[in-house]
Amino acid sequence: MDVYEAVDSRRAVRAFSDEPVPREVLDRVLTAAARAPSSGNLQPWHVYVVTGGPLAELKRRASARALAGDPGDEREYPMYPAGLAAPYAERFAAAAAQRYAALGIARDDPDRPRKIAALNAEAFGAPLVLFCYLDRAMGPGQWGDAGIYLQTVMLLLRAEGLHSCPQVMWTMYRETVSRLVGAEDGRVLFCGVSVGFEREGAPHLRTGRADLTETVSFLGM
Ligand SMILES: Cc1cc2nc3c(=O)[nH]c(=O)nc-3n(C[C@H](O)[C@H](O)[C@H](O)COP(=O)(O)O)c2cc1C
Repeated sequence: MDVYEAVDSRRAVRAFSDEPVPREVLDRVLTAAARAPSSGNLQPWHVYVVTGGPLAELKRRASARALAGDPGDEREYPMYPAGLAAPYAERFAAAAAQRYAALGIARDDPDRPRKIAALNAEAFGAPLVLFCYLDRAMGPGQWGDAGIYLQTVMLLLRAEGLHSCPQVMWTMYRETVSRLVGAEDGRVLFCGVSVGFEREGAPHLRTGRADLTETVSFLGM
């Protein structure tokens, strides 16, 4: 698989089979992903790989919170800026509409937030989740580095035939996650990334993208 194919075929998959992810595959992916660039080569990420019994326990605890309608722990960073303006609000709404349709959750379902939280808390059925943390001392530049790193991981997973779904929703249950993985107090949970093989027959969602002219300006060419 070349890089273009890996980029093009990566999607946020929200239906995984329970086929386990082999340890040697994950070792290969994470070893290669360590080559991701970071400003000053700080490599500011710390990843906890959770599967098997510990993940089952985490899903159980997070799902119980989601199903109880728990609004979640106090956020350490906002998922989105308050009052999203155009064009971001429109992009957000369009992606959400596609996502909920694919998950079979009606737009006007009053139980929608709880259903969404519950699906996220189950990691969409994934057999493995990577939790990416940053040292609390890190700033916006290092958060950007962590994003570059996670995309590298997700593309390498594609090269191994695996799929993924990054999930900021895990920050709602950050205390539950941190207790289970044993994250040090000085670390902030950026997001989880569910990893696994796509469940056969799951709806194939391909989200749209803004036109290049909206996001790129060419100068001098
Ligand atoms: C940092 C990050 C956090 C995300 N959090 C969630 C999440 O909590 N739940 C979810 O279903 N999707 C989540 N997504 C997936 C996005 O919704 C998805 O990437 C976007 O709609 C584009 O779709 P695509 O990845 O399928 O191309 C997240 C993506 C990123 C990069």
